[in-house]
Amino acid sequence: MGMLEGRVAIVTGAGSGIGREHARRLAAEGASVVACDLRGSANVATEIRAGGRPAIGMDANCAVWAEAEAVVAAAVDTFGALHILVNNAGVGGGRMFAEMSEAEWEASITGNLRTAVAPTRAAVGYWRTEAQAGRPVKASVISTSSGAGLVGNVGQSHYGAAKAAVAAMTVIVAKELEGLGVRLNAVAPAARTPMSSGNPVVVEMMRAPDDPDAFDAWHPREVSPLVAYLASEACPWSGKVFHARGGLIACFQGWSLGPSLTSDRPWTTADIAERLPAVVAEAERLAAQSAPPNDEMRRRLAESVLARAAAAGPAKQ
Ligand SMILES: NC(=O)c1ccc[n+]([C@@H]2O[C@H](COP(=O)([O-])OP(=O)(O)OC[C@H]3O[C@@H](n4cnc5c(N)ncnc54)[C@H](O)[C@@H]3O)[C@@H](O)[C@H]2O)c1
Repeated sequence: MGMLEGRVAIVTGAGSGIGREHARRLAAEGASVVACDLRGSANVATEIRAGGRPAIGMDANCAVWAEAEAVVAAAVDTFGALHILVNNAGVGGGRMFAEMSEAEWEASITGNLRTAVAPTRAAVGYWRTEAQAGRPVKASVISTSSGAGLVGNVGQSHYGAAKAAVAAMTVIVAKELEGLGVRLNAVAPAARTPMSSGNPVVVEMMRAPDDPDAFDAWHPREVSPLVAYLASEACPWSGKVFHARGGLIACFQGWSLGPSLTSDRPWTTADIAERLPAVVAEAERLAAQSAPPNDEMRRRLAESVLARAAAAGPAKQ
């Protein structure tokens, strides 16, 4: 018996890449699945049903509150309940900040932050009504963040800002809903998908092994087992943020106060100029000791993005 037997799950962005693998894995673990995407969601639902598990597809823009509410309503109408929401939908893209248009910034915030906010708000509304009616709630939301925001990718300030906000929302709403029986966690994945195919450095790193029997660590299916565990009643955690890919799961430790400067009298600018550099140097030394596992890749990615931008020259306004 799978870990999600009897549970009902929504997966957004389920038509492609990592989301498709999440939908398949949750179904394999016993969940009934609502696969949502902008278009083509029926395909993954058909595939899951062919494997003997219940699933429906729902084409919807989950960044729009009314459409997200319709997806939650479809889950409840079709399967009688909702226990799991996987906020996976997202849009990629890169642009140096100095060349960013308002439309590009807004599209990324909508495509990566609102896509997590609207379904979460709709699902939480349903769970609150359930709790008010005296029915016990044991629900789990797993949202998708990114190292692009939590660590910082050059050329992705819009995408990174949205993905860092997804992590912040997860941590805060997890605290707000402690008493309701709703857990929220976030996963920052890394996998070979249409979205990650835009930069040659990344494409080379994520290339599938030549030997079809070798472990394919960058296959998007390698992110899904963690999501399935976070979705299960066996998982006790809420408010955590993880990095996940094949062969590596790591806990993000978030923004935390490190080395500090104290004073028992009002600051002077001269004090700060004299004493703060040693504190910052100590913080940098400690940060270098715990460099995240993808740091080398991120450094090479930054170099290639900066080189491309330098070759292109300043964009004409
Ligand atoms: N691939 C990676 O290495 C990587 C790294 C970090 C984060 N992520 C995140 O993982 C998630 C999945 O990405 P992927 O790599 O599988 O990309 P992908 O492009 O293959 O899949 C994203 C899916 O989301 C759907 N989508 C986008 N906006 C939507 C909306 N408003 N409503 C409904 N569906 C919508 C798209 O149609 C697409 O099917 C995204 O949130 C992405 O930002 C991916």
